[in-house]
Amino acid sequence: MAFIKEEQIQEIRRRAKIEEIIGQYLPIEKKGRSLKCICPFHDDHSPSLSISTDKQIFKCFVCGTGGNVFQFVEKYEKISFQEAVIKVAQMIHYPLDVELEPSKKPVNSKYLPLYQVLNESIAYSQFQLDSVDGIQVKEYLHKRGITDDQITKFQLGYLPRTHRLHEFLSKKGFSDEVMIRTNLAVVNEYGLHDVMSSRLTIPIHDIDGNPVGFTARTMDPRDDRKYINTSETEIYSKGKLIYNYHRARQECKRQQETIVVEGPMDLFAFDKAGIHHVVATLGTACTTEQMQLIKKLSMKIILCYDGDMAGQHAIYKAGKIALSMGMTVFVANNKTGKDPDEIINMYGKDELIMIVKKPMVWLEFVHQYHLTHYDLNNYNSKREYVSIMMNEIQMIQDTFDRDYFMNQLVQETGFDFIQLKSLIPQEKKSLNHPTLIKRSRFSQMDGERKAQYEIVSQLLLSQEAYRRFKDELGFLVDDDCQAIVIELMEYYRTHQTMELADFLNCLEEERLQQLILDITESELFVQEPNMDVLLGAMQKMKDCLVRRQVEQLKREMHTIQDPVLKTKMVEQYIQLLKKTKKEK
Ligand code: GTP
Ligand code: MN
Repeated sequence: MAFIKEEQIQEIRRRAKIEEIIGQYLPIEKKGRSLKCICPFHDDHSPSLSISTDKQIFKCFVCGTGGNVFQFVEKYEKISFQEAVIKVAQMIHYPLDVELEPSKKPVNSKYLPLYQVLNESIAYSQFQLDSVDGIQVKEYLHKRGITDDQITKFQLGYLPRTHRLHEFLSKKGFSDEVMIRTNLAVVNEYGLHDVMSSRLTIPIHDIDGNPVGFTARTMDPRDDRKYINTSETEIYSKGKLIYNYHRARQECKRQQETIVVEGPMDLFAFDKAGIHHVVATLGTACTTEQMQLIKKLSMKIILCYDGDMAGQHAIYKAGKIALSMGMTVFVANNKTGKDPDEIINMYGKDELIMIVKKPMVWLEFVHQYHLTHYDLNNYNSKREYVSIMMNEIQMIQDTFDRDYFMNQLVQETGFDFIQLKSLIPQEKKSLNHPTLIKRSRFSQMDGERKAQYEIVSQLLLSQEAYRRFKDELGFLVDDDCQAIVIELMEYYRTHQTMELADFLNCLEEERLQQLILDITESELFVQEPNMDVLLGAMQKMKDCLVRRQVEQLKREMHTIQDPVLKTKMVEQYIQLLKKTKKEK
């Protein structure tokens, strides 16, 4: 991995102007004194991302995303911090002597024999596709519209009747143990036999491209196990794998969107239509873990499952998971009731491209989805429908979409706005909406917390404030604030003045970066050095600390029996009480 010196990172950051770097990605508008642009980190319609040229940071007031120039590039390009530094260096023509190697993780040597046996099996299955039996499978693939190039690219193959693979691998010197560990073979009452036999095989890889198993389709229409997958092994965990992840990764990042389909055949259909940012969940249920992986590729997804009822349910479930992770969800505009593989074969490439190029927004899908379950001619049913739709609408961050669909609901049901709003459950009104969470962080805080944030806001402004704080108080009670104090100590030890964009680099935890950004952007805090503010807040903290000591002493005094000790405690208690009175 490339190694970039700390001084170089600082130099690059100092030379790069955040407004110019962001300007290379997005059009920037000048609004009064500030620079704004459409936020690329949520579904933004009016420019909500503002750029501070003084502080050299950016911050979106709706989704809360913010940081310095590296963090922008890191988040925008969805690359690592190091890669972002290199990218920015290139953009400003800063000579940086590091080459970025592809970030392939070193293979865990424990699994090496498992990958080897799987690679051999893949090669064997590919070879078998040209055998007497295999040739029928190849013809089957051709009949389904799969080209020879695709057969090679996706390493499609055929595994013949049982024991063949086992024999082959044994001759190659692989032990039974390694075949069992990869679930290529299992033991039953008749001995060892192959798991995938007489089937078309499709290798599955992990996110780094290591082979981990197979999904295999039967050629026998009477077989009710149409597909079988490798079962759980040390390297294959169904709920945590995505098919085609390693091949689609780059394209998903480039397009900033990921198309999610059910099965490999659907994915091959898109591939043939020239669409490569596609992954498959292998079956209808998309798990939270799978969605977390997809989120690393892009914040935007287009769900493209079967058009049948099962497909619709699966879309609904997967969409909910994605929304709860703050992702933007679209649904392929599939009116055919077919799956993508059937669409390309029945209606052609253009139809398939169309359903994902003009997808439905999430609420459009949800509207259709719920409508099929309710009868709007029945008052009770209509009321339930409205209530459920209001819930869905509240989940959406985009205010434009929210208003549009509320309006639609009014027209559709005859209820008015006030009635609709009364149907939102109280706690849902602030449903996981980043802005609302952000605001509540400050609006619901108690005096002690506010004082701590006030102190942090001042410490971030001057070394002088930090010195004063260190001499008179020295620590904060809140864990996050105290973590920031510790980082500040280190920062001021090596820097004379505070450069916020620089300081953010020193913090490894994104949570702390976020807290600092929230504090430095909040109107609740004075944003210039002010000793009175600092001293006032420190006094508040001291009062709180004394009050805590009083409470603790009171509790302890009840439990102490020893009369001498008790007298001492009473004296101490009186002293503390005097202190609190004097301070008031
Ligand atoms: P084709 O008939 O080859 O086009 O498959 P399909 O993708 O249209 O299959 P279907 O819509 O029936 O199922 C969707 C996905 O569910 C498949 O791609 C498989 O990943 C999975 N699946 C289908 N049948 C089975 C099965 O019998 N067992 C398991 N474990 N998974 C299945
Ligand atoms: Mn199909």
